[in-house]
Amino acid sequence: MTMLVNKTAVIYGAAGAIGGGVARAFGDAGARVYLAGRSRARLEKVASDIGNADGLAEVDALDARAVGEHADAVAADAGCIDIALNAVSFPFVHGVPFADIDVEDVMHPLVSFLRCNLITTQAVARHMTARRSGTIVTLSTGASQYLLSGTLGYGTTGATIEIMTRRLAVELGPSGVRIVCLRPHAIADGPSHGSFAGPVFQARAAAAGKDVLLGGGASVINQYLAAGLVDELELQVVPLVLGGGARLFDGLGPDVQLEQVRAIEALGVTHLKYRVVR
Ligand SMILES: NC(=O)c1ccc[n+]([C@@H]2O[C@H](COP(=O)([O-])OP(=O)(O)OC[C@H]3O[C@@H](n4cnc5c(N)ncnc54)[C@H](OP(=O)(O)O)[C@@H]3O)[C@@H](O)[C@H]2O)c1
Repeated sequence: MTMLVNKTAVIYGAAGAIGGGVARAFGDAGARVYLAGRSRARLEKVASDIGNADGLAEVDALDARAVGEHADAVAADAGCIDIALNAVSFPFVHGVPFADIDVEDVMHPLVSFLRCNLITTQAVARHMTARRSGTIVTLSTGASQYLLSGTLGYGTTGATIEIMTRRLAVELGPSGVRIVCLRPHAIADGPSHGSFAGPVFQARAAAAGKDVLLGGGASVINQYLAAGLVDELELQVVPLVLGGGARLFDGLGPDVQLEQVRAIEALGVTHLKYRVVR
């Protein structure tokens, strides 16, 4: 693929599951990829996978000065910064109800994610606005939309990143710089790539013996169905044809068998519930 030939990308948190995956995809598409992260050893692995990583740097993404100097060095080396992604993660407490949680445990992810995204955005935006061109990508989380007990810290953090991104779009848009927030749902192979999501969600679910709610999208659900990890499936069917995109049940064979448990018809939507037959 050559979609990103002559483009320069900076990825913060480039050794992580998402950062590393995006770095590999950008490299495949022909971009010059600059990897920034906390541990050189993990960055070197991604750089060797890409083969064309022009630079990797140990940069603390919470250190505004270090991030600024790194962005300046990348812009000087490459001539410009076209794309920047912040895929840094910070630890957070998950699953503790409001009555029991320490307020500091709610504040910690909120402050860390917000500060980090503001720092990296400001560092690259300076170079992008000078050329009136560039795209900045932030990441939130499906938890920003789920109103479930125990998600106060991470959910509020995701919602805040989304609002911050919209506000920054107003700041940066007139200078020709686009900023967008992507809201990934659970990424099935994140834990096997060292994601924070493994220890936070898997260990907790196992220890508590609680159910795990998988929010989609279709590709993640298909992978979990294929792996035999789904017990129940709830579908909300609405009369809207999208005409493209990932399809539910795509690639699954007849060994995945469903038994209908419930069907509720409402105005404009049908709620279906299935049990996966073992
Ligand atoms: N994985 C999912 O299922 C999922 C779903 C929805 C949203 N997200 C969001 O996507 C983002 C990335 O998730 P992920 O699963 O890819 O995380 P991850 O695999 O845990 O990677 C995060 C990366 O951030 C780096 N990092 C942490 N603190 C840093 C700092 N101060 N300075 C520089 N780098 C630092 C880590 O460095 P080390 O390599 O040294 O650990 C790691 O490489 C997060 O914002 C997360 O909320 C993820």
